[in-house]
Amino acid sequence: MRARALGSIAPALALLAVAGCDGGAVRPMQTMTTKSDLSEWIRTLFFQITAWDALVFTIVVVALFLALFVFSTRVGEAAPPSGAVSSLGLEAAWTIGPALVLLMISIPTIRTIFRTQAVKAPPGALIVKVIGHQWWWEFQYPALHVTTANELHLPAGRPVRLLVGSADLIHSFWIPQLGGKRDCIPGHVNQITLIARVPGRYWGECAEFCGTSHANMRFQAIVEGPAQFAAWTKAQLATPESPSGGPAGAGALEFANSPCTACHTIEGVSAGKVGPNLSHFAGRATLAGLRPNTPSNLAAWLRNPQRIKPGAQMPGLALSGDQLNDMVAYLEGLK
Ligand code: CUA
Repeated sequence: MRARALGSIAPALALLAVAGCDGGAVRPMQTMTTKSDLSEWIRTLFFQITAWDALVFTIVVVALFLALFVFSTRVGEAAPPSGAVSSLGLEAAWTIGPALVLLMISIPTIRTIFRTQAVKAPPGALIVKVIGHQWWWEFQYPALHVTTANELHLPAGRPVRLLVGSADLIHSFWIPQLGGKRDCIPGHVNQITLIARVPGRYWGECAEFCGTSHANMRFQAIVEGPAQFAAWTKAQLATPESPSGGPAGAGALEFANSPCTACHTIEGVSAGKVGPNLSHFAGRATLAGLRPNTPSNLAAWLRNPQRIKPGAQMPGLALSGDQLNDMVAYLEGLK
């Protein structure tokens, strides 16, 4: 029977072992492959608490087995009369023991909580305002005068102070490999301070149910070296392309005269604030935070956004084939 029990536990243990392996690329939403100081602290905390839990678990299981097999009577045997009297020493032990374990868990937990939301931003920190919308993310860099959507660029090795808020209802900002989660609450600003350490692209998502397309409220964090980050900033500050001829030129005219301008900003063309800023739309690798930013995916999005992001506020554009191609050519030129 012991062998059978072990046999049934072994696959579960093997699964657990595999789950702990480094597989950031394969399992982008796991927290064990840490890429920032914040996620590292949280992982360390997880291991510390697991160690204490394991100790408690072991003591309980040993006590259980002793009670079952050592300090128990056999069938047919009369139970000896109990001579138990209250024992101050024992009672003190099982009060102080668990209290110590709770203390060992709460001290590092509270320390990590305070560490991750320091009252003052660390010197030299880059401030980024994160604003959750149904169902997309806005990122503003006040000192750089940059506003973008669904792709959060962060410089590696530099402290970042994220000021997390919401434009409508409660969302939750979460990049598993960089740390989080933190609620985005309308009329309130939450903070996350972290230093992203490893350059790369990391998936993030909304972690608080916020309506129809909650599961589609995804985004990417792009951690890059200082030179690449500076180059990205420069590209964001450049005046967007304003083509005059060809399909892109026709698309530019079409955009300027369309209802798109009421919701979207393209620097020098429109100043809508309802949807993502499109000034440098083609500089993003993803579309709507969900798909690769390719002409065919963009055409599919413009035709019927609801199909890709059900419930999205953006209506389908009733464009003819040529008009659609022109609009795609224009938007995909906005590097
Ligand atoms: Cu936003 Cu869920």
